[in-house]
Amino acid sequence: STNLNDVAKSAGKLYFGTETDAGTPEMSDSQFVALASNSAMFGQITPGNSFKWDSTEPSQGQFSFTLADELAAFAEKEWSNSSRYERLLRHHFLHRIFNNVYILGHNCVWYNQLPSWVSSGGFDSATLTQILQDHVTTVVSHFTGQIQLGCSQRTFQRRWNAAFIRLPDTLGQSYIDIALQAARAADPNAKLYINDYNIEGSGAKASAMLSLVQDLKSRNIPLDGIGLQGHFIVGELPSDLQSTLEAFTALGVEVAYTEVDIRMTLPETDALLEQQQKDYQTVVAACMAVENCVGVTTWASWIPTTFSGQGDALPWDENFQTKPAYDGIVAAL
Ligand code: XIL
Repeated sequence: STNLNDVAKSAGKLYFGTETDAGTPEMSDSQFVALASNSAMFGQITPGNSFKWDSTEPSQGQFSFTLADELAAFAEKEWSNSSRYERLLRHHFLHRIFNNVYILGHNCVWYNQLPSWVSSGGFDSATLTQILQDHVTTVVSHFTGQIQLGCSQRTFQRRWNAAFIRLPDTLGQSYIDIALQAARAADPNAKLYINDYNIEGSGAKASAMLSLVQDLKSRNIPLDGIGLQGHFIVGELPSDLQSTLEAFTALGVEVAYTEVDIRMTLPETDALLEQQQKDYQTVVAACMAVENCVGVTTWASWIPTTFSGQGDALPWDENFQTKPAYDGIVAAL
């Protein structure tokens, strides 16, 4: 099968990537490891969970990077073996580029997967500000020199679970400023992103995100990119993907499709697979058409447990054999 990352890079993009993580079932599947360790196939990796707050700071001030370091070590071991290994020369990206491969630190903060000492801490805003600053500073500093960071926030995710801390309610939207400023201070070269879903086509949430970008930029809050997650349903793509990407890049940020999965209601049929092929081609083509869209990353690990009865969302099957959707991606690259 065609090496997606090589083709994406030859077409001027930075990477084609995938989500995975240390300790996941796929990482003990030789077929997936063969796929993930082929930096011609993937040039970027996003940890599904090991970089998140509940994993990295399970109790206040007690940091644990075991799984996150394991994933970073996988990248260094697997991707640095290539003859094209090149250590990063510090420039505007902060990645250790293994063969031009990037790890995206997902994430600095979001509403979910917060440790209970944070989500039920009942802290006042001054204390919570300090806690957030300490967390972001420590996590970003730990990975300085290794990764690009996605200071991911669910900015307009209003589906707050009562058990989780209501960051926006306690800190207001300033939690975004706090996280981005702390990340920039900890690692001036890391690329900082806000990453969200349902902003891929025009609508209230995309408009709100566009306004947020303008606001942050106007106040010189550090922000380098917007991650549009790209969690789609077969046959239900927004009709204005490219123009939405362009609306963000016009504000002076780069963009990327950061978590693309295009799910279907099971069981799969030939018609659904054919539509999924068209949809993957459409999504990747939109990024290819926009100069400052830097890459596409697939996701999907969350679908079976989140969307009952839906799945089969990736360009390859559970045995990591390519599907028609894979051909759709190749056709777009
Ligand atoms: C999901 C992971 O894939 C799951 O394993 C975890 O249980 C919950 O989070 N958008 C995001 C990701 O930004 O962090 C989410 O990842 C999927 C939706």
